Amino acid sequence: MIYTPRFIVIEGLDGSGKSTQIEMLQDALQARGEKCYLTAEPTELPVGRLIRDVLRGQTRMDPRALAALYAADRMEHLHHPTEGILYQLTQGCHVIASRYYFSSFAYQGEFVDPRMIAAFNFHAKSTLPADLTIHLDLTPAESLKRIEGRGTEKELFETQEKLTKVREGFLEAYAQFGDGENIHILNASRNPVIIAEEILGLVDALE
Ligand code: TYD
Repeated sequence: MIYTPRFIVIEGLDGSGKSTQIEMLQDALQARGEKCYLTAEPTELPVGRLIRDVLRGQTRMDPRALAALYAADRMEHLHHPTEGILYQLTQGCHVIASRYYFSSFAYQGEFVDPRMIAAFNFHAKSTLPADLTIHLDLTPAESLKRIEGRGTEKELFETQEKLTKVREGFLEAYAQFGDGENIHILNASRNPVIIAEEILGLVDALE
């Protein structure tokens, strides 16, 4: 079957169900013979690993420097010769990514001037905006409940006040920096199967 490899980004608060939806989308696409490459930011590449050290509190860093690191990690994510998004698309794989540059506006925007974040991410936005960005929208209370239910170690951003700011940051970023992009905000508190069907419908609607 002939298909066009797509770059699909799933955004949302921690606990919004990104991983579940990414796996369900992969299953649906693979079931009809389409190849998928799953990936995430921060990456497992060297800059991504440094970012995770900061998130775990092992390294302290100026927020502007951290915003620059996320953008640097993203450049690696785009251009890496084997694990890069661009390379995977040339290999005929759909690339499904957990997070891309809207996460930087949402999370770093509280501490860093959005114009600076836009400048850091100019390269990614002008090189490869996603074919489709799905935002899994959850209220901060619901997000926190799910994070707590997981019982994993809490990272920096996981308090309700923070989650509220981040959610607002996402919505603002889509309005201000999402021009010309195909962004869909889906209510993530619903049955995951219904959400997955909706996402597949949006993928199939791509020109
Ligand atoms: P992630 O591994 O997606 O965390 P989770 O699975 O808990 O959603 O991302 C790690 C953290 O990095 C998450 O709190 C969001 C944050 N982040 C930023 O602050 N800026 C960015 O540009 C990206 C991609 C992630």
